[in-house]
Parts: sequence; C-alpha cells; structure tokens
Amino acid sequence: MAKEKPLVDRSPVLTRHVVLVGLMGAGKSAIGRRVAARIGARFRDADTEIEKAAGMTIPDIFAVHGEEEFRTGERRVIARLLDGQPMVLATGGGAYMDNETRALLKEGATTIWMHAELDVLVKRCAKRGNRPLLKNGNPREILAGLIGSRYPVYAEADITIDSRDEPHEIAVNAIVNALIERGDMVR
Ligand code: S3P
Repeated sequence: MAKEKPLVDRSPVLTRHVVLVGLMGAGKSAIGRRVAARIGARFRDADTEIEKAAGMTIPDIFAVHGEEEFRTGERRVIARLLDGQPMVLATGGGAYMDNETRALLKEGATTIWMHAELDVLVKRCAKRGNRPLLKNGNPREILAGLIGSRYPVYAEADITIDSRDEPHEIAVNAIVNALIERGDMVR
C-alpha cells in the first residue's frame, strides 16, 4: 500500500492588506506587529516608512516642512505600500482622515479601527514625547478634541477592536478571529 503523504503544516496566507487605524496611543503598531508575527505576514509601520523616505524624523518633518507636506508624503508612502504583497500595516493617526488615503484603504485593505478610551490614550501618549500634534497644548484636551472629530470617521473601518489596558494577546486574538471570519486568510 502506498505510503500516505505527511500533512504539510502551512502558515495561513493573507489575501488582502490588513491596515490598523486609530488615534495616537491606540496601540496600532504594537498590536499590528504581533498580529503579523502570529499569522506569519509582513509588518510595516507607515510612520517609519515615511521617516525612511524623507530621511527625517516625524517631528522634524512637521517642524521643517509643516503638516501639509507630511500628509502628502504619508499619502504617497501608503499608496506605495498598498501596491505590494498583502501585509499588516500600522498607519499614523491622521492617515485615515485623509480623503484620498481613506479611499485607497477602503478599496485595497481590510481596515481595523483600534478604538480606545481617552484615559488610555492619555496614559500611553505620556510615555513618548515625539508626537507633534500633542506639543502645542494640553494633550488630554487635544486628544479629546480629536476623539470628537475623528471617531465618526474611524468608525467607517471594516472592523472595530477595543484597545484596553490588558494583555496585547486579547486584541491580537480578536483581530485574527475577525480576519478568519471575513475570509481574509487562506490555509
Ligand atoms: C498623527 C499621528 C502620528 C504621526 C503624526 C500625526 C496624527 O502617528 O503620524 O504625528 O495626525 O494623529 P501615531 O498615531 O502612530 O502616533
């Protein structure tokens, strides 16, 4: 009798980009990186890619060229990343607010809004002082204002995940389960 072929344990493959959106401090990069590691996909952080392309840090881009120039670079870098193989991509908080970038993301990716309460965002943002939008005033007030203006737009994302002060694995599991349910991964 012919020997049965051993089953090959293949990693799941993404069929579509997975893009995390949400406010500063929502955990887009931390969670996105872990989701990618879990499913064996590539991970990119749009802010890091913008810094590489510009040869400058984000605070320097804002200080030297201004926010509008930053948004133009952000739009270009995200369009380039979406042009490649499916990956997990963490975006900066303003990316999904840009009409053109949002349209690209809606067309070419499954978008995940990392939703977080104000207290969680304030606590996390206090740990890193490299966010230009939080420099000119009280970070809590600025973040509260951004919740008001941005949350209705982030709510257009395909999936909403709560980002709380709890182990990363909880949000990672919720995302992986949602992707499997949507059929965004094949084995
Ligand atoms: C921004 C968020 C930042 C960065 C830039 C502008 C925003 O990214 O892109 O400072 O407009 O909310 P994070 O959300 O990763 O902090």
